[in-house]
Amino acid sequence: MAHVTTPRPVERLIAGQATSDGAGVKLVRVLTPDLQRRLDPFLMLDAFGTDNPGDYIGGFPDHPHRGFETVTYMLEGRMRHRDSAGHEGLLGPGGVQWMTAGRGVIHSEMPEQADGRMEGFQLWLNLPAAQKMRAPWYRDIPAAEIPELERPGLRVRVIAGRVGDTPGAVQREQTEPLFLDLHLQAGARFEQPLPVAHNAFVYVYRGALEIGGRAVPAQRMAILANRADADGVALAAGPEGARAILVAGAPLREPIVQYGPFVMNSKEEIFQAVEDFRRGALA
Ligand code: CO
Repeated sequence: MAHVTTPRPVERLIAGQATSDGAGVKLVRVLTPDLQRRLDPFLMLDAFGTDNPGDYIGGFPDHPHRGFETVTYMLEGRMRHRDSAGHEGLLGPGGVQWMTAGRGVIHSEMPEQADGRMEGFQLWLNLPAAQKMRAPWYRDIPAAEIPELERPGLRVRVIAGRVGDTPGAVQREQTEPLFLDLHLQAGARFEQPLPVAHNAFVYVYRGALEIGGRAVPAQRMAILANRADADGVALAAGPEGARAILVAGAPLREPIVQYGPFVMNSKEEIFQAVEDFRRGALA
């Protein structure tokens, strides 16, 4: 894999906020609205993980979205997706659902299990102003269709972007998202070049990592500094090994105005989204 000579240091560690969404699904909002500018083009990251059905059984009944993309990555458990465009799919362990809301969808995401573990992430990726009203699109990517790289002690699942010669399952032109799931055995290392301007973070969900001399424990997001002299990220697993997601992308540098499930560039566009939803014109 590509070599990084000057790795980015960690700028900040973030613990996130415990909250609930949908019909009472418990989760941790790791990327909160106050970090939207810093981590442009990413708008939100939720981490969920529980063995207690009471924490997830309510699911996410019908709700709208406009103006961005949602990327749901399941580690364990099954969720069924239905939307107003007539799409339906079952998201299982290791699978991804990539949904481009564009001008609007109404969808539901409901657990397809009454017990057992449910664990995964939902990442929100902004759309450029010129694409916020595009036609909606979505794709279910089963686990077997996500490209993987194997090295001794290391497995990399390439959900989006590219690692060396291996393109990920999804590519996007303007935001150029990189979304990797990293499985590292004790002491394993991983390096990934990153353009200086791209905003990037690592979220550790098992074990612990060391990034640029800083220990990053589980359930923490490390925001990586955009230093002009740094050419990428280098990380190493501690003695218990680690699992983490690495996310990076090109900032859009456009105004961000969010009202719940609508993310546009101005208040007027938000009023329009709410009005369109009320009169049933969003779907
Ligand atoms: Co949704």
